Amino acid sequence: MRKPLNFNRWIDEHQHLLRPPVGNQQIWKDSDMIVTVVGGPNQRTDFHDDPFEEYFHQFRGNAHLLIADRGKFERVDLREGDIFLLPAHVRHSPQRPEPGSLCTVIEFPRPQGTRDAFEWYCAACGGLVHRSEVQLASIVEDLPAVYQAFYGATDAQRTCPHCGEVHPGRDWQAWHARREACA
Ligand SMILES: [Fe+2]
Repeated sequence: MRKPLNFNRWIDEHQHLLRPPVGNQQIWKDSDMIVTVVGGPNQRTDFHDDPFEEYFHQFRGNAHLLIADRGKFERVDLREGDIFLLPAHVRHSPQRPEPGSLCTVIEFPRPQGTRDAFEWYCAACGGLVHRSEVQLASIVEDLPAVYQAFYGATDAQRTCPHCGEVHPGRDWQAWHARREACA
């Protein structure tokens, strides 16, 4: 059995991993529950479709989840001290603009045959541009290939099938600015 950890000390010892370029750290590596601490700054354009619920505790600084729902984007603010339970399959894109912000995220392990998906939406019309399904064994190791498949694609492959807008890929500043302009 593992001994209890002092959480504040754990944070201090992993401080260097909780900011870019790594930005997150799983507390117990060989456990059934996936307990991760995620730090800012980090902003992104991908949306996650998790087959299970996710628990968030934003314990330092502020962040928000962008939610994609039937062509519209909604914002769920995670203010310092907030806890939040995200239902399964709600498409979410965590945005962590504040350096030094910290959030505990708890996820379920994915049984074989239970697939996650990562999606990219059009900033202009909210339509789905790309969806990639994956059997997640490791959150750290399985994701780079999924991201690279979209970010390394051609403009034609990142063109919205609904309105013709080209998705800017990993350029989150361009994507968020365009989304706000079109809202
Ligand atoms: Fe579009």
